[in-house]
Amino acid sequence: MILRKTLSSLVLMLLYGCHLHMAKTVMNGGDLEAALPEPRAYIPDSQNLDFVYHDHEELTRFLRATSARYPNLTALYSIGKSTQGRDLWVMVVSSSPYEHMVGKPDVKYVGNIHGNEPVGREMLLHLIQYFVSSYTTDQYVKWLLDNTRIHILPTMNPDGYAVSKEGTCDGGQGRYNARGFDLNRNFPDYFKQNNKRGQPETDAVKDWISKIQFVLSGSLHGGALVASYPYDNTPNSMFQTYSAAPSLTPDDDVFKHLSLVYARNHAKMSRGVACKSATPAFENGITNGAAWYPLTGGMQDYNYVWYGCMEITLEISCCKYPPAYELKKYWEDNQLSLIKFLAEAHRGVQGFVFDPAGMPIERASLKVKGRDVGFQTTKYGEFWRILLPGYYKVEVFAEGYAPREVEFVIVEQHPTLLNVTLQPSKRIEGIGAGGPSYYRPIPAPQHYRPVPPYVASASNDNGIFSTISNGLNSLYSNIFG
Ligand SMILES: *[C@@H]1O[C@H](CO)[C@@H](O)[C@H](O)[C@H]1NC(C)=O
Ligand SMILES: *[C@@H]1O[C@H](CO)[C@@H](O)[C@H](O)[C@H]1NC(C)=O
Repeated sequence: MILRKTLSSLVLMLLYGCHLHMAKTVMNGGDLEAALPEPRAYIPDSQNLDFVYHDHEELTRFLRATSARYPNLTALYSIGKSTQGRDLWVMVVSSSPYEHMVGKPDVKYVGNIHGNEPVGREMLLHLIQYFVSSYTTDQYVKWLLDNTRIHILPTMNPDGYAVSKEGTCDGGQGRYNARGFDLNRNFPDYFKQNNKRGQPETDAVKDWISKIQFVLSGSLHGGALVASYPYDNTPNSMFQTYSAAPSLTPDDDVFKHLSLVYARNHAKMSRGVACKSATPAFENGITNGAAWYPLTGGMQDYNYVWYGCMEITLEISCCKYPPAYELKKYWEDNQLSLIKFLAEAHRGVQGFVFDPAGMPIERASLKVKGRDVGFQTTKYGEFWRILLPGYYKVEVFAEGYAPREVEFVIVEQHPTLLNVTLQPSKRIEGIGAGGPSYYRPIPAPQHYRPVPPYVASASNDNGIFSTISNGLNSLYSNIFG
């Protein structure tokens, strides 16, 4: 075993040497995470933010006051309004709050998608307060904010929250939006046609993530203690509601790793103790979503399949809406996890796709070989992909350019910087005026959007079995999370 490890790192070193000309690895803007001391615990100042639940007006007041007090570190924007007209506030925390830092990742947290699971909502307010109050005194926080734009949506379902009851550990009151829709069943689905009518809250989030390329994301829930990763759905969930089997992505190694980062930095999640005797215990505090229970229309599968954003679901409290006096304990349990998880955006490969003149190519499609879920470049030609140490090939396509395959190596200590230049594609003459170019790629957005399986088997989805199965699924998920 030890020998094999040594050998494989030797191979890696050799490969690394061989391919230096293709992927130059350099330090990522200033200090490296590995060289930094651990973030320090934050000492809450109850004058700024107490450990109590904040209603929508109080939450709005806190965010406004913070953005006024820390104009160099925060920006407040609304991505839209809830069904009942409450703003869906997002606070950016970064040393560049108003502008994307070219070459540096944007990441996000979403809280309270289920209105009656508000621990995450309060944790995110404290995370904001922690960041702004520690920036000048904590090297780790400074590094993170100098190199990352962190977008925080503390509540995606303020209307549901408004009708939830403190102290209610189970049940569905307040889970849904004001029209009774479960927002975590309201996204387009990769495996099954989702006929649920799009809700204002979901539409706002879809629009948001279509505009900003998020590299990494966490969605905060309550009702269990586990980090759960895609896929949440499966091609045959009808038969799997109870005999749940894993539904794994081609990036399973990365998703497991990200989930473990959260669980291991949490005070107790990685112990994998069941919340109650009747609920499951999760080995190391992580689970594949579908292996727990499959669901259609979830947010994490959508982020990953449509935008290549690595989102996981963080269930951070056994009780969905615990009494306020427990919030301080939840903060202590989660604060390191919340920070260390975001730093994972700085693992893997990042770079730019250029044309021969050095101009960025927007919407180039990339796919790491063997991982058939793609991602795209931004308008600056940037891309990111979280990957564990190893040897990889990436395929790069863009309309009007010859596709390329580039090899690179990922190491543990710092991200690999990789710039790719694409050459214009050659046209084959004589096919006809304005005829297709030789390398005519499928239009970029579809290139690596896998064909949803339901297109091929739509008839399976309309029967009474599927209706029954959906009913069971929602019953099951109301209980657990
Ligand atoms: C890649 O391109 C960016 C943007 O032009 C540049 O800042 C960076 O130094 C380049 N990196 C490498 C490894 O060539
Ligand atoms: C914000 O940054 C500017 C320029 O660096 C500085 O002059 C100003 O004092 C800062 N403001 C605050 C409130 O820190």
